[in-house]
Amino acid sequence: MGKNKTHFVCQECGTIAPKWLGRCPGCGAWNSMVEELIKVQGPSRNKNNPHGSPGTLAKPITEIEMQGEERSPTGCNELDRVLGGGLVPGSTVLVGGDPGIGKSTLLLSAGAKLARCGQKVLYVSGEESEKQIRLRAERIDACSDSLYLASEVDLDSVLSLIEEFGAGTVVVDSIQTVSYAELSSAPGSVSQVRESAARLVRAAKETPCALLMVGHVTKEGGLAGPRVLEHMVDAVLYFEGERGHPYRILRAVKNRYGSTNEIGLFEMTGLGLREVDNPSEMFLTQRPESTSGSTVLAAMEGTRPLLVEIQALVIAPSGMGVPRRTCLGMDPNRIALLLAVLEKKAGLAIAASDVFVNVAGGIRLVEPAADLASALSMASSFLDKPLQKGTAVFGEVGLAGEVRAVSRADSRISEAEKLGFKQVILPLGNLNRMEKVTPDLELIGVENLDETLESVF
Ligand code: TYD
Ligand code: MG
Repeated sequence: MGKNKTHFVCQECGTIAPKWLGRCPGCGAWNSMVEELIKVQGPSRNKNNPHGSPGTLAKPITEIEMQGEERSPTGCNELDRVLGGGLVPGSTVLVGGDPGIGKSTLLLSAGAKLARCGQKVLYVSGEESEKQIRLRAERIDACSDSLYLASEVDLDSVLSLIEEFGAGTVVVDSIQTVSYAELSSAPGSVSQVRESAARLVRAAKETPCALLMVGHVTKEGGLAGPRVLEHMVDAVLYFEGERGHPYRILRAVKNRYGSTNEIGLFEMTGLGLREVDNPSEMFLTQRPESTSGSTVLAAMEGTRPLLVEIQALVIAPSGMGVPRRTCLGMDPNRIALLLAVLEKKAGLAIAASDVFVNVAGGIRLVEPAADLASALSMASSFLDKPLQKGTAVFGEVGLAGEVRAVSRADSRISEAEKLGFKQVILPLGNLNRMEKVTPDLELIGVENLDETLESVF
């Protein structure tokens, strides 16, 4: 067989070796040699145009043809929201997540929804047999005559399937199981993943079809395989959730066709994934009312307001050295900063206590608007005094203890109003700019943390 030649290249310094070596002879780095196909020298360059490839012309931007946006919504609203409206033909989306989180389930049901809208969908699995997939599809009601299954791991076979089949959408589950016969490395290795992904992306562009690839994640939580994988694709989505929690969050970390701050919410049930369209109710259902250390934050996830509970437990110093700080769903540095502000600016002797903070429901908060609610939760637990029932909070806290205005106050307040809250504590800066009238909702504008604690507790 006329196998292409391969060699090994050090990813640190570029040294080339004919065989795999544990340590690079050039720079001495361990485990850095990755297999690559040897490129055959192309035809010599045009004499008149020695740098560019012949025939490449630059055009004024105004003369470039604009194609109307032809997205096909998958019919799964939460997925569409994260994708920015639907799948674009010729684009590639990588979906990463822990094993067993529901990636295959998500893509199978999205594939079935597309198929039911009349699109030809091809689902290539290297992880499960066709029978297993059929059984699952029956259970989650994802069967359609236009949904085609193939159990295949050989890259060339997958590529010819994609070319010949003419599917509008192709799912490859997972990129780590596909292997290219010309490379001797094992499936899932850096060189295999890189080569397979590059060829699949090219095939999707040429066909054109929308390509959805499942990617495994490493123990650290990043996508397994080469970093370039994320550069090759148009969108990278992570499917996340806590073990033991039925809720799943789909988050975009890269999206060439939409924003990256939208999230999709799902609930894993016995009958597959259910879309969650009233997330605030979902996150607040099991909230203990009138207990100290619990505050409801009016958060924003993308363009969607979301009410979540921030819980804190502050325990008197044990005198055993460094106090413990555990934060789930929040940046521990942000919590440390807020504790320092509570101590210095609000006069609470809290800095030496053990502090545990948790965002209920397994959601992860990154916006500074969560500051005030976190600080109130910690103060409430420290003082052992609950906040008044039916209170929602938002606002950023600065190092001087000042409460700063945040974006989208209107949406946050409307969400609180919709869910029957009685009062909202918000930055005075936001209140002064409010045009909205809320007859059933008391709005309490605050300027600094010290004052807020005095008026609340
Ligand atoms: P799966 O989609 O196979 O995960 P991944 O592809 O990310 O590895 O989902 C597997 C888990 O989801 C499995 O542990 C069981 C659970 N599950 C349900 O609870 N209900 C269902 O209807 C399905 C299909 C799976
Ligand atoms: Mg799977």
